Amino acid sequence: MKIFILGINGFIGNALARRLVASQKVEVSGVDINSYNIEDLKKKKNFFFYKLDVFKAQNKIENILKKSDVVIPLVAIATPNVYVKDPLRIFRLDFESNLEIIKLCAKYRKRIIFPSTSEVYGMCNDKYFDEKKSKFILGPINKPRWIYSCSKQLLDRVILAFTEQKSIKSTIFRPFNWIGPKLDSLKEAQLGNGRVLSIFINNILRNKNLHLVNGGNQSRSLTYIDDGIDALEKIIFSDSKKINGEIFNIGNPKNNISIKDLASKIIYIYNLKSNKKYKGKIVTKTEKEFYGSGYQDIEFRLPSISNAKNKLKWSPKNNLNNSLNKTLDYYLDKND
Ligand code: UGA
Repeated sequence: MKIFILGINGFIGNALARRLVASQKVEVSGVDINSYNIEDLKKKKNFFFYKLDVFKAQNKIENILKKSDVVIPLVAIATPNVYVKDPLRIFRLDFESNLEIIKLCAKYRKRIIFPSTSEVYGMCNDKYFDEKKSKFILGPINKPRWIYSCSKQLLDRVILAFTEQKSIKSTIFRPFNWIGPKLDSLKEAQLGNGRVLSIFINNILRNKNLHLVNGGNQSRSLTYIDDGIDALEKIIFSDSKKINGEIFNIGNPKNNISIKDLASKIIYIYNLKSNKKYKGKIVTKTEKEFYGSGYQDIEFRLPSISNAKNKLKWSPKNNLNNSLNKTLDYYLDKND
């Protein structure tokens, strides 16, 4: 089986490629503008890397896609600060560039495995977000935070429409706050262009204050990257007919935690591990102060994972302590 991963150097891309290459069951081709996360894979016989920009190398990308069996388009910016500060970048990269890939998959009748997002549910009021029943609740247009959610939602709908007319085979997965090594670089986190855990870790390592947006009572279900990659492997190697048109929430409802508790917990783990104690403080900021007026928060986010449990026989294995410990170890190691 030939698998084509776009955005292979990214957080999910590099971890997935590493697992697939090691399994020896498939051939992996990948494109990205960077390769710092996959240097070690370049010498493997079943791995092919092409340093290409999705906006400039359409013909080369079409050629690789044509020869592949499964296409996994992971190119995207997934950090809320950028949704607010540069929504058109999200539109061009996350939406337009992926739409072109989806159209190519339809042209060549390929199987696509597409990353949607937990963010499509937005401010949904359901206790557990359900792929088939939950309503998507997004804020007004003057809150560009929702451009990512909205872009992914439309791509999900386009993929399902192509699947209905039998131009493609598809499976959509929705990561719920995946964490782990290489989540974001510390440089990105320092600019505020990370996700909450990488921003907290970066600030702890520099003894800077941790900021709780709106007091930190909002919660997220943190999911360890290895569990996410287990789910992706199951999707890739399942009978494509059986999970054609399916959508899977991939998250860990048992790892649900408020951002306030996450801040205390990660400081506690850091202080246990490190011989230097963290010297900063936990302080509160309003969402406007932290992100600007284009932001609106999501109060809670719990996935229903019964579809993945039933159809993929998948459940997450890593509890919160384990997931945070392994993520912090990676950054401590990198910071030395
Ligand atoms: C994330 C991102 O949009 C994507 O990575 C992804 O698609 C999706 O959700 C997911 O991974 O499931 P969100 O969870 O809101 O969205 O983003 P984070 O930056 O991780 O923030 C989590 C919460 O912490 C938010 O309520 C945010 O306001 C808060 N936060 C963030 C703080 O309190 N302090 C900070 O320093 C940073």
